Amino acid sequence: MSNKFYLTTPIYYVNARPHIGTTYTTVVADVIARRKRAQGVDTFFLTGTDEHGQKIQRSAEKANCSPQEFTDQVAAQFRALWDRMGLTYDDFIRTTEPRHKRGVEKLFTLLRERGYIYKGSYTGQYCVSDEAFVDVPPGAPCPDCGRITETVNEENYFFKLSAFERTLLEYYEAHPEFIRPETRRNEVISFVKAGLKDQSVSRTSFKWGIPVPGDEKHVIYVWMDALINYISAIGYGSDDPADKAKFEKYWPADLHIVGKEITRFHCVYWPAFLMAAGLPPPKSIVAHGWLLFEESKMSKSRGNIVRAETILDVLGADALRYFLLREVVFGQDGSFSFDALVQRYNSDLANGYGNLVSRTLTMIGKYFDGVVPEATGLQADSIATEAPNAIAAFNRSIDALDFSRALESAWTMVAAVDGYLTASAPWKQPDSITDEQQRAFRATVLYTAAEAIRIITALVYPVIPDAASKVWTQLGLGDIQKADLKNLTWGGLKPGTQLGEIGPVFPRAEKDAITRMQEIEQANATVTESKIPLSASAPIETTQTAVPAPAETDGLAAAAGEESAPPSIAPAASGPATAAPMATTPVPEKITIDDFLKVELRVAQIKVAERVPKADKLLRLEVDLGYETRQILAGIAEAYAPETLIGRKVVIVANLAPRKLRGLESNGMIVAASLGEAGKPVLAGFLEEIEIGARLK
Ligand code: MSP
Repeated sequence: MSNKFYLTTPIYYVNARPHIGTTYTTVVADVIARRKRAQGVDTFFLTGTDEHGQKIQRSAEKANCSPQEFTDQVAAQFRALWDRMGLTYDDFIRTTEPRHKRGVEKLFTLLRERGYIYKGSYTGQYCVSDEAFVDVPPGAPCPDCGRITETVNEENYFFKLSAFERTLLEYYEAHPEFIRPETRRNEVISFVKAGLKDQSVSRTSFKWGIPVPGDEKHVIYVWMDALINYISAIGYGSDDPADKAKFEKYWPADLHIVGKEITRFHCVYWPAFLMAAGLPPPKSIVAHGWLLFEESKMSKSRGNIVRAETILDVLGADALRYFLLREVVFGQDGSFSFDALVQRYNSDLANGYGNLVSRTLTMIGKYFDGVVPEATGLQADSIATEAPNAIAAFNRSIDALDFSRALESAWTMVAAVDGYLTASAPWKQPDSITDEQQRAFRATVLYTAAEAIRIITALVYPVIPDAASKVWTQLGLGDIQKADLKNLTWGGLKPGTQLGEIGPVFPRAEKDAITRMQEIEQANATVTESKIPLSASAPIETTQTAVPAPAETDGLAAAAGEESAPPSIAPAASGPATAAPMATTPVPEKITIDDFLKVELRVAQIKVAERVPKADKLLRLEVDLGYETRQILAGIAEAYAPETLIGRKVVIVANLAPRKLRGLESNGMIVAASLGEAGKPVLAGFLEEIEIGARLK
């Protein structure tokens, strides 16, 4: 068996700051990397950032800075967070680095020379959010994410993906472990069986990317660019002999960990690019599910992200790591909530493992002066005899990437040892036995508990490394990173070992932990892209979610029906619903200029307007902001015929959190006056010629 293990995470887009969804993949990779290293395997763990493409270019424009400045800032945030989380990546690749550019140029040139890349023209739809060419009619939403697609008509370079249909299917057949789990494997096989079309691999309508060698009008398609990070990071494209040796040593990768939404890119395009270049595909690609928050995928565009920093500030990195791996069944979607996090923390970490360590070591301190006693065998207990089975069960599950079950089995052991301590009650001394007998009994019970703690700690070290390191030192065993954690067997803790200094491992979460985290998140909820701070730990400028959104006070969005706030609660900011009956016009609270500036009002031009089936009041609009096109749903269908709106310049609230109406995402809100009892909408507009995208302030 080869003694190297190369594993990767996806490289993250820098249009969004890191959140606990992106943290999830990186933590999973870190757990695997730590475990491999603990088993003596030469491990290389790669992560990084995906920094090119139209989406990033637009985000930078919106933030009024150059794409390079923008990507430098966000990439630094990712790194800072990963470091704070104690993630042990060996390399962090950025696609804007020269070493990556070299690798991309080399692969592109090779495929062109081998006849797998040719020039053609592409007319079709493009989803900027997914950076994907999609096979839908003009105006139709993206089949994957539901956002509007843009029509692209460009002369492009194409990759002959169609030539790999049979080869890929044969490869999947011969390598069942190539795509895991089975459901994803079946999806990929069906996708390929349905027929592969050649894939456009360059763009000409924007500049932020790696130019096609010798034809600089084109930039290389961002997904081709991004996938190549897995080889450019380990030396592909470099002439330096050390880099070449590194590439020889580590490629093919042993494991690419990806979210389920990007399996097609990794399992179809990536092996095809590699096969075309004469390189072996990675050995295995594992797709995990999504972390959901408030029932939908946690993502920036949905505006429902939770920052890892909030949890680190209140409960620490181990709490988040443990929660993610214990609560989410790997491969399936799992939900995050602050309640569940704190409950898990208190029950499993503070009251479970932490308390077991504390009571055991305190008693060794009290009865044996802090020296591990020798078990006399007076009380043979199932803890010792069951230990080999418990170790084997844990190892089996974790090697199958079933982290949740592995932790469940470790915590079954925690509960068993805890129960054993309570039942044995070594703190009591029955009258019937002598001091000597009592000492021998205590020695056996406390040795058994301490040795079980050593084994549990060694097993769970990759998941809760900070706590495990502390416990290891408290057990008097020194630095866990230097310990040999392979081949764990009962009896490894030597009697006579002097315990280290004992201290709390997981203090109980305070009563207000949930509210504290919620408040921190709320204060950071709607950060504007233009204000992403350079340092991850710097306070982020915020937009208060409590600013009454005009959509809810003028009833435009509310008119759309489901999923919007009931109109009766909309004016809540102006006074309680039980206000005196005489007060017909509530007096709004005064706000400061800073409050006003939190609302980003911009000029946009309506490009598409159409009715939404079965929603009499609702129009689906596509509006151009100059730097991006958005879909907005507006309750103005009774006042405006859709065709009269095309080309009209309107004012929109650009930083409103997106929401879904009739299953369609609305990304912003049109500003209008509301007339009469029925609230007839009249769109705001300008007398002078006005530039699209201009901000109102
Ligand atoms: N840049 C591409 C990947 C290129 S890899 C050659 C990309 N980036 S991403 O930032 O949008 O997301 C990458 C990964 O982040 C997902 O595949 C997934 O692993 C992780 N996650 C992002 N949001 C997540 C959740 N809500 N839940 C779980 N994982 C999530 O796609």
